[in-house]
Amino acid sequence: MTGPERAERAARAELAEQAEQAERAAQLVTSDVDVALDRLRAGGLVAIPTETVYGLAADAEQPDAVRRIFEIKRRPSDHPLIVHLADPAMLADWAATIPEPAVVLAHTCWPGPLTLLLDRSGRVPDVVTGGRGTVGIRVPAHPLTSRLLSRFGGGLAAPSANLFGRVSPTTALHVVEDLGGRLDPRRDVILDGGPCPIGVESTIVDCTVDPPQVLRPGGIASEDIEQLLGMPIDAAQGPSRASGMLASHYAPSCAVHLVPPDGDIADAIRAARQHSRSVEVLDLTDDLVRYARELYERLRAADARGVDVVVARLPAAAGLGHAIRDRLLKAARRADPSPAR
Ligand code: TXA
Ligand code: MG
Repeated sequence: MTGPERAERAARAELAEQAEQAERAAQLVTSDVDVALDRLRAGGLVAIPTETVYGLAADAEQPDAVRRIFEIKRRPSDHPLIVHLADPAMLADWAATIPEPAVVLAHTCWPGPLTLLLDRSGRVPDVVTGGRGTVGIRVPAHPLTSRLLSRFGGGLAAPSANLFGRVSPTTALHVVEDLGGRLDPRRDVILDGGPCPIGVESTIVDCTVDPPQVLRPGGIASEDIEQLLGMPIDAAQGPSRASGMLASHYAPSCAVHLVPPDGDIADAIRAARQHSRSVEVLDLTDDLVRYARELYERLRAADARGVDVVVARLPAAAGLGHAIRDRLLKAARRADPSPAR
C-alpha cells in the first residue's frame, strides 16, 4: 500500500469511529433527570455529573447493579466505591459512628468535593466496600445530580466514570469515549450536566483514625480542612489504605514529563523534542483553578491528537496544587517508567 493509500484508509477509519461515537452518544446521553431516575430504580447504571468529575452510579442497595459497575469499568472488586447522598442529614443512615471531626467537615464542606471515610452501617452492602468495614461517603454539589439524589432518596454507589486506571471524565462526551461501547442503551444512561467545574476528584479524609488523615488530595485543600478542624492533619504515609490509589492511576497514553515549579520549561521542551516528534506543553500554574478544571481534558486531547510527550509544570504543593501535583505525578509514572521522573 502506498503512503497516500494508507493515509486515506486511516482517515476513513477515523471517520467511521467518529460516526459510531456520535450514534452511541445519541442513544445514551440525556439531560432528563426523570429518565435517569427510572433507570436507577430499574437497576440500570447512570453516569452522573458532579462538581469534580463524572461518576458511574448505581443504586447502592442493588448488589447486581453495583457489580455491573465493576464489570463495565474493568475495575477489581476490592476497590471500594463512594456512596453519594442528597443531604448531610442522611449520614447517620450509612455510617455506624460519626466522630466529631466528621460532623464538622460534613456540615461545612457538603455539598462539595469532600469524601469522608467512616465505619459503615448495616445499610451498606458488601459489594460497595469490597467487604471492608469502612465506607466513603460524599454529598456532591451539582444541580442535576442533587435533584436526582433528592428524588431518588437512597444512596448512589459511584466511582469515576472512566475505564479503570485511565484519566477521569469531566464531560459527558468523555464518558461516551470510555464507556459508550460498554453501556447498554436499553438499561443505562449518561446524564449530561456540562463540563465539571472543579475537574479533579474529591479530597478523601479518613475519619476512622485520630487525628483524621487525607488519603487523597482533591477539590478541597488540606490546609482548609486543617483550618476547619483546628488541628494539623497528615497525608497518609506508606502504602495507601485507600485501595485504588495506585501509583499509576490517572494515566493518559502519552508520556508526561514533569518540570518543577521553578524549573526551566524551555530546557525540558528541548530535551523532549530530541527524542519525540510531537511535544505539547501544559503549564497553567498561574491559575490553579483553571489548571485543575482543564487537566484531564488536556491530557485526553493530547492522546486524541497522538501527541508523544506532554511537558507539564508542577504547581507548588499548596492549596489546589496538592491535587494537581498528585494526578500529574501519577500520570507521569504510568506513562514513563523512567525512575528519573
Ligand atoms: O470526586 C470523586 O470522588 C468522584 C466523584 C464521581 O464522586 N469519585 C471518585 O471515585 O473519584 P473513585 O472510585 O474513582 O475513587 C475513589 C477512591 C478509590 O481509590 C477507592 O479505592 C477509595 O476512594 N475508597 C472508596 N471507599 C473506600 C473505603 N471504604 N476504604 C478505602 N478506600 C476507599
Ligand atoms: Mg477513579
